[in-house]
Amino acid sequence: MNEFYFNSLAWAWILFALLLVPFQILIPAPYGRHTRANWGLQVDNRLGWMLMEVISPIVFTFFFLQGSAEKTSGSWVLFALWTLHYVHRSLIFPWRTNTKGKKIPLLIVTSAVFFNMANGFLNGYYLGEMQAPTLFIDHPRFIVGGLVFLLGAALNFRADTHLLRLRKPGDTGYKIPYHPVFRRVSCPNHLGEIIEWTGFAIMAWNIAAVSFAVWTAANLIPRALNHHRWYKRQFEDYPEERRAVIPYIL
Ligand SMILES: NC(=O)c1ccc[n+]([C@@H]2O[C@H](COP(=O)([O-])OP(=O)(O)OC[C@H]3O[C@@H](n4cnc5c(N)ncnc54)[C@H](OP(=O)(O)O)[C@@H]3O)[C@@H](O)[C@H]2O)c1
Repeated sequence: MNEFYFNSLAWAWILFALLLVPFQILIPAPYGRHTRANWGLQVDNRLGWMLMEVISPIVFTFFFLQGSAEKTSGSWVLFALWTLHYVHRSLIFPWRTNTKGKKIPLLIVTSAVFFNMANGFLNGYYLGEMQAPTLFIDHPRFIVGGLVFLLGAALNFRADTHLLRLRKPGDTGYKIPYHPVFRRVSCPNHLGEIIEWTGFAIMAWNIAAVSFAVWTAANLIPRALNHHRWYKRQFEDYPEERRAVIPYIL
């Protein structure tokens, strides 16, 4: 695919993410605490997470490896980070959740499969086929982006781990999280994920990686706003000083 078509596709994809934001704010994506029975067929929550997330590293790896671009140290590091993130998200994270017996709508699984195919294609194809051989791990921008990525991943992992430990085995209810990373925001896991993929975009410095960072924010800022509203409705003693996802601001 020539660069013009690829860039047009990526820009259209970014625009689509932005157009969906108002809908995502008004209609909370129906999984986890926002699941509702009237969203059609449902499947086991853990199975759904595995199916929808495992697509991403498969598609990414396929296009990365079959592409003819020269693979530099930077491309291989980005490939490794993507793979590590998604091996955790698809094969480990679902089994760390205490969601036994919970369901996820097939519609969410299907739309996430579509998203992960498009996102895996754009990023794998760019790095595998279109990336100029200029991406090296000792470039200052790559190092700064790498640190941002690691900071985001650590925050995401720490916050998710705290949430997962709030439930005793067999529990499926919700409690107020009080770990320090929740002091200023209700959803530090979502904030961490946004920081993580922003770091990846700084490292990769291409339109495909930017589109993933935009999609992550466009998905997770509305989700965090909805979680935050839900917490405040649910718990009278919910900490006043918390915002949804950006400390002091949002
Ligand atoms: N890159 C992206 O676009 C993207 C999109 C979606 C998700 N993600 C990532 O995937 C991970 C999961 O996302 P999510 O939106 O499902 O996160 P979440 O709503 O915060 O839930 C995370 C896990 O913790 C449990 N949990 C949450 N709050 C709890 C509480 N107050 N008390 C007890 N248990 C609680 C949830 O159970 P329930 O499921 O029963 O609520 C779930 O198992 C996050 O790391 C997120 O960043 C990334």
